[in-house]
Amino acid sequence: MRFDTHLTAEDSPNIEHLLLGVFPTEFEAHLVESLRRRQAIAAEHGLWDQGALVGYNAYSPVSIEGKSTKRQILGVGPMAIHVDYQGAGHGLRFLEESLKDVEADALVLLGHTAFYEKVGFRPAADFGLTFSDNAEMNAAFMALECWKGALDGLSGRVIYDKMFYGE
Ligand SMILES: CC(C)(COP(=O)(O)OP(=O)(O)OC[C@H]1O[C@@H](n2cnc3c(N)ncnc32)[C@H](O)[C@@H]1OP(=O)(O)O)[C@@H](O)C(=O)NCCC(=O)NCCS
Repeated sequence: MRFDTHLTAEDSPNIEHLLLGVFPTEFEAHLVESLRRRQAIAAEHGLWDQGALVGYNAYSPVSIEGKSTKRQILGVGPMAIHVDYQGAGHGLRFLEESLKDVEADALVLLGHTAFYEKVGFRPAADFGLTFSDNAEMNAAFMALECWKGALDGLSGRVIYDKMFYGE
């Protein structure tokens, strides 16, 4: 397995293939294609096995409604592990490696809370952060300070790139 921090434009077909195979709809593949094309990705990581992309994770800048900060806050995802590789610990190891490499002050994500708790994410509500007015979505919204206090004074609604909202 090879952890890759330098995915290029040439890797787009591999990324699309992986995301289409992992997620039930084309939403994530389209989202990543748009973010990559508009250079709206702050960092992205891949996991390769024998020439095949079997893991992917992207980070994109977010802002907090009504707040101005120099702190770098990134949204994590979409993250995916190829279906044939799921459930064997690859996702957790990949995420740990990915988090060690990414440069940010704080991270947020919408996802499987039990999975992301394992690497230190906490309910975003603990920091006063929300994703939307939807309680179910807010319950799956998580945050991680890369240094203690990174989110101090930054409570509010987190705004992602418009493509995350399916616009
Ligand atoms: C979610 C995903 C990235 C996890 O990767 P994985 O390689 O299957 O996970 P791992 O085998 O490393 O699991 C590590 C631990 O996390 C747990 N875990 C994995 N997926 C989980 C999930 N969806 N919800 C809750 N816990 C999960 C495992 O049970 C395991 O726990 P244990 O160590 O206590 O046994 C992968 O399954 C995937 O790509 N799923 C489809 C796409 C997706 O949902 N992406 C994330 C969007 S938030």
